[in-house]
Amino acid sequence: MKKDYSQYFKKPSLQEAQKRGKEDIQILHDAFHIPSEMIHIGQHKFYYIRTYGCQANERDSEILSGMLEMMSYEATDVMEQADVILLNTCAIRENAEMKVLGKIGDIKHLKRQNPDLIVGVCGCMAQEEEVVSRLLEKYPHIDLIFGTHNLHRLPELLKEAMFSKERVVEVWSKEGDIIENLPSVRAHGTKAWVNIMYGCDKFCTYCIVPYTRGKQRSRLVEDVLEEVRELQEKGYKEVTLLGQNVNAYGKDFETPLSFAYLLEQVAKTGIDRVRFTTSHPWDFSEDMIDTIARYDNVMPYIHLPVQSGNNDILKLMGRKYSRESYLELFHKIKERIPHCAISTDIIVGFPNETKQQFEDTLSLYDICEYDIAYTFIYTPRDGTPAAKMEDNISLEEKQRRLYQLNDLVNEKSKKANEHFVGQTIKVLVDGISKNDDEMLCGYSEHNKLINFKGNKDHIGQIVRVKITQAKTWTLDGEEVES
Ligand code: SAH
Ligand code: SF4
Ligand code: F3S
Repeated sequence: MKKDYSQYFKKPSLQEAQKRGKEDIQILHDAFHIPSEMIHIGQHKFYYIRTYGCQANERDSEILSGMLEMMSYEATDVMEQADVILLNTCAIRENAEMKVLGKIGDIKHLKRQNPDLIVGVCGCMAQEEEVVSRLLEKYPHIDLIFGTHNLHRLPELLKEAMFSKERVVEVWSKEGDIIENLPSVRAHGTKAWVNIMYGCDKFCTYCIVPYTRGKQRSRLVEDVLEEVRELQEKGYKEVTLLGQNVNAYGKDFETPLSFAYLLEQVAKTGIDRVRFTTSHPWDFSEDMIDTIARYDNVMPYIHLPVQSGNNDILKLMGRKYSRESYLELFHKIKERIPHCAISTDIIVGFPNETKQQFEDTLSLYDICEYDIAYTFIYTPRDGTPAAKMEDNISLEEKQRRLYQLNDLVNEKSKKANEHFVGQTIKVLVDGISKNDDEMLCGYSEHNKLINFKGNKDHIGQIVRVKITQAKTWTLDGEEVES
């Protein structure tokens, strides 16, 4: 079926991206195809993809790789060797964007050396109006810009960029349909990302994601299960179910379904390990806690971003829960799953955050003693409500608060790790340790990175490791006979 794309915008518009239409999202199982003239276009040619940002982008890059390899391109890690360069970008914070702009600058000389080189920018930055205008104006060596909603159009867009010799910009400001038959080349052989939904409807006031990823769209249970079963047959040991807010899975169906239901179905496939991320505290149901507790193959690790420990700041952030209700949920999880590891995200220096409000975040952290936390200094994002708020806190003060918080994060992380010393735990072996050729590394059920002495033949398997030492971020150990 030929689709009419004229309803979409060629260039992004944040205003359009904010709208949440009522029209149904179609789920298409046979919509993706590669134009016949593109099937062999990449023979003896290389592609290079650089991925920034979150797991959603990691997964998208696997799909970009899949499409490029179907067009006969081969992957390379050496950017200078590539005939097609794609930068899959992230817009979450200013420094994420600065890194990308630096990289675009680096590519300029390559284009001079090889005028046939195709340079493409995609991902979340491509959904931003201002950014695209700036890219078009300042970086004439970019050939192709496309966004997060029309990833599957890469073969067509590449064709246009190659044969028209003109710059191609196609960014849809509103989400398209869910395309189910996209190829992909997965980054790992034993653990895999599985999208269960796209987009986000939460509109936290500081966050750009609902604009760059569109409205929430859940994949069908059958499609998710089919993907998991296929992975299992190929020998995959672990899947991570992905969504900006997995707890809200299925709420967008005509007959709503719950994430607890999906999680249970995935657990029942019998795959060794099931993980999921991210969980917004707001939609976290008792049923979910119950499912995690009941299934041994659902890993006892939850990423539960709190963002702030102060109620006024939480309200301004539009997080829709209070310090008290968060703590109630936190304790409920720990009561039902006592050994459950919990991590979090925290933003310091939200506009006008007072010292006292920041102290509330520290005191909440002291109570929760998280296994790990990802901490950020707030940066305004164009088009979001928080970007319009007046802010009297200096950057120096924000940095000071970040350091203070990070000291606490490190202390608690070490403490959480020490709990495992002397225990024998299960580890999925990833490979040789980065810092020591003699050691293996892998992740425990609680998502701890374990470096250990073990048998190299066991790479890709789940082994038992006795923990001998706790460090701030990692644990050391020795493999024991199963
Ligand atoms: N969907 C996830 C978060 C995705 S973004 C969730 O709701 O938990 C990852 C993290 O980036 C957020 O949790 C938040 O802590 C941080 N973040 C988002 N926007 C930010 C901004 N404008 N400035 C600083 N940090 C931000
Ligand atoms: Fe951003 Fe909030 Fe959606 Fe997470 S839930 S992606 S922080 S808007
Ligand atoms: Fe970044 Fe987009 Fe993910 S903004 S964090 S890559 S959804």
